Amino acid sequence: MSLTSTAHALASSQAVAGTCPDRLVRAIRAEVRRGLDWQQTADCVARALRAGLPEPAALLPARLQRGDSAGYQSHLLYAEPDGTFSVSAMVWLPGQQTMIHDHVAWCVTGVLRGHEYEEIFALTDGGRTLRLAARNVNPAGAVNGFAPPGDIHRVRNTGDTVAISMHVYGADISRLGNSIRREYTLPIHS
Ligand SMILES: [Fe+2]
Repeated sequence: MSLTSTAHALASSQAVAGTCPDRLVRAIRAEVRRGLDWQQTADCVARALRAGLPEPAALLPARLQRGDSAGYQSHLLYAEPDGTFSVSAMVWLPGQQTMIHDHVAWCVTGVLRGHEYEEIFALTDGGRTLRLAARNVNPAGAVNGFAPPGDIHRVRNTGDTVAISMHVYGADISRLGNSIRREYTLPIHS
């Protein structure tokens, strides 16, 4: 099963829908097994991805690279048997976006095609509101690693072409369905 944006809240598991090149699996595994803290692990995995981001065709069949008008798609590519990391590819049509959310563990994103607009938020007012803390446009080739806490964000394809990115999570999304910890519907203070 692959997930649409609207299916995330109900997700319980995912089956593999694409492939992750062996060289990338080995590189990620080597970094994860160093046993560093989450931010350090994210930074190291990001460095490994920057050394050789794959083409979308190496991850997904052509039919899954086209996107879906129902919502952005998340396709599981690989889940490490011991549950320490998993890899997915996300496919976004122009205008599609995530909810504002954070994650249960570290995450590394790499943009393979198009570009993604990312907004980062901070909790304010004792956790009752959000404040926009940063915004970034990540073009193809951009790789970023982050770890909780402080990873509240929203991602949108603001371009006019399909965007494709790969995501490495420090969690087993084949079992969890996704790595989202919480979706935020709080008011946003400018
Ligand atoms: Fe995210």
